[in-house]
Amino acid sequence: MYRIIRIPPEKGEEMRKKAVAGKFLDTARKIRKIKNDEGSFLEIPLTNSADEIVEDFQVIEQENPDFFDKSFIWEEFLKNHFSEAELAYVPSGWQTLGDIIIVRIPEVLEDNKLRIAEALLSKCPNCKSVVRDFGIEGQFRLPKRELLLGSRTETVHKEHGCFFKQDVTKVMYSKGNLEERKRMSRMGKGEVVVDMFAGIGYFSIPMAVHSRPKKITGIEINFESFAYLEENIKLNRVGNIIVPIFGDCSKFTPEGTADRVLMGYVGNTDYYLGQAIKTLKSSGGILHYHETVPENLSRTRPQERIRKAAESLEKKVEILETRSIKKYSPGILHVVVDARVF
Ligand SMILES: C[S@@+](CC[C@H](N)C(=O)[O-])C[C@H]1O[C@@H](n2cnc3c(N)ncnc32)[C@H](O)[C@@H]1O
Repeated sequence: MYRIIRIPPEKGEEMRKKAVAGKFLDTARKIRKIKNDEGSFLEIPLTNSADEIVEDFQVIEQENPDFFDKSFIWEEFLKNHFSEAELAYVPSGWQTLGDIIIVRIPEVLEDNKLRIAEALLSKCPNCKSVVRDFGIEGQFRLPKRELLLGSRTETVHKEHGCFFKQDVTKVMYSKGNLEERKRMSRMGKGEVVVDMFAGIGYFSIPMAVHSRPKKITGIEINFESFAYLEENIKLNRVGNIIVPIFGDCSKFTPEGTADRVLMGYVGNTDYYLGQAIKTLKSSGGILHYHETVPENLSRTRPQERIRKAAESLEKKVEILETRSIKKYSPGILHVVVDARVF
């Protein structure tokens, strides 16, 4: 378990010094800034020797910890194995999903990839496999990945009280969407919800576990993801809430039924706006519309697309909120727009 306390930013330096003096600062992980609906916080990583409560702050489990790229062991390892020129390419971070480490290793370090994998495994002793990441492709969001060490690529990732079983070489899981998954876990209480791009249950599972809507219809077109969606429904005991449907959401959404529609897919999400609006109850409902958009258009283009789709169905729109989820690529943001359509 990776332990932390979450504290107000102004207490950061004082707490860091106390943790260093008390020898319970975990120096393998970064002190991380986070922002959620309750405000901005610092997460201070703690070793197992820290008490359960530190200076009135409850110790909690950290999700998706950020490890230092240059802790002492790592630095020693780098010096011993890489030339000055190669050092510029050595990965400066990695992701853990369940007990699997996922890391990008550039082509120039091809001959050293196993050495890097071994070093990462020794740095993260709870992990069992190391997988090299080459990115995500196409409509089905298929990851291109290579198993470097270990024998398993299937794992159960625990996050925010939910279990996400997945094969990391077959389905994607975006660490950057963590706050949005948590936000969705607070929505939908007592409602009828349609998740048009359900994947393995990224949004449906936390919403079902924490908010307990009346019903969530989760639609997924990729069979590998769909199979994990079905498993995750069982694993999280939400079979009484989520009804999984295998297929294309442009054909299978139950029209006129939903209080809320989730559109957690980027690429050509606007193509599906008409169907999403038809899926809402005729009296109206909420859309969570995702889009990747150049930074300077993030406050106009997605909102205009929603308005245009609604107008063509003779509906009105109230834009409730636009949130930036993450930087998608240089100059491009992944945003989500909450809109009431009626
Ligand atoms: C990228 S995932 C969602 C990721 C999620 N936002 C997260 O938190 O990581 C989107 C899913 O939509 C599915 N998908 C794409 N087009 C679809 C369609 N027309 N109907 C149903 N599912 C679709 C993909 O297979 C993929 O599993």
